[in-house]
Amino acid sequence: MTFASTKKLALAARAGGYAVPAVNIVDSISIAAAVEAADAAGSPIILQTSVKTVKYFGAPVLAAVARSAAEAASVPVALHLDHCPDRSVITEVIAHGWSSVLFDASDRAFEVARGETAEVVAEAHAAGVDVESEIENIVGVEDGVGSDDPNVHFYSDEQLVGVALETGTDLIAPALGTAHGLYKASPVLLVDRVKALAALTDVPIVLHGGTGLSAEDFSAFISAGVSKINISTALKLAYMHSARDHLAEAERAGKWEPVKLFDQIGGAVRATVQENIQLFGSAGRAGESA
Ligand code: 13P
Repeated sequence: MTFASTKKLALAARAGGYAVPAVNIVDSISIAAAVEAADAAGSPIILQTSVKTVKYFGAPVLAAVARSAAEAASVPVALHLDHCPDRSVITEVIAHGWSSVLFDASDRAFEVARGETAEVVAEAHAAGVDVESEIENIVGVEDGVGSDDPNVHFYSDEQLVGVALETGTDLIAPALGTAHGLYKASPVLLVDRVKALAALTDVPIVLHGGTGLSAEDFSAFISAGVSKINISTALKLAYMHSARDHLAEAERAGKWEPVKLFDQIGGAVRATVQENIQLFGSAGRAGESA
């Protein structure tokens, strides 16, 4: 299949009472592992790229690797740009066929964020690309983007939905008490805020900072109306810890085989994505977003 629409996947998930895993991939090993996990489970999947990853490989290479994995899969695969405040990178990935972009305007004042979001939506929609919008601060720094201050920009539910409807935003990323990275203290989760937002609009609601939440937390957020859940740190840990373990064993055995390293990393990432598919209830739901 070619890339799926992130918005369509999230709308189908909202209607079906599950969430689509949106996993941050970093290279061809993690792309293949995530798509294999989704394919085996019959789940839709959203591959997310950070700006840092796009800059490292270049948009053409990353898009080509993701596209070839998507075309070989029997489930819908979307390619999404995660947190991006830099409009030139958004323009670049739109030109290379990404399904969607997260325009992160949480560093801008309200009026500026609203105006620029409308411009990004117009640019993206002209190319058939969906836009996730973030104008509030989600705590934590993700690959160099973001803030640790939770109180910089936080708006009323009506303001947030108003901006989404007025600008034509396809998905919204509100502050929901979660944070990027590992939790240093128990988060105060704003499940009721999701219910309030979902009562105001059908625009899909995205949960950031998925790593470290419990099965009960995910269920509560999904029942409230979340239909795309972002997971990055858990994949990075699976990737790096499996690499560390493999290299320690290679050192002990005196056997150095790169492809075996790739296999071990791929297996660890695949298992992490499989776990999230089960937690989010997306297994067997691939046919619902066609
Ligand atoms: P975690 O790194 O906490 O899983 O958050 C991922 C995320 O929200 C990416 O946008």
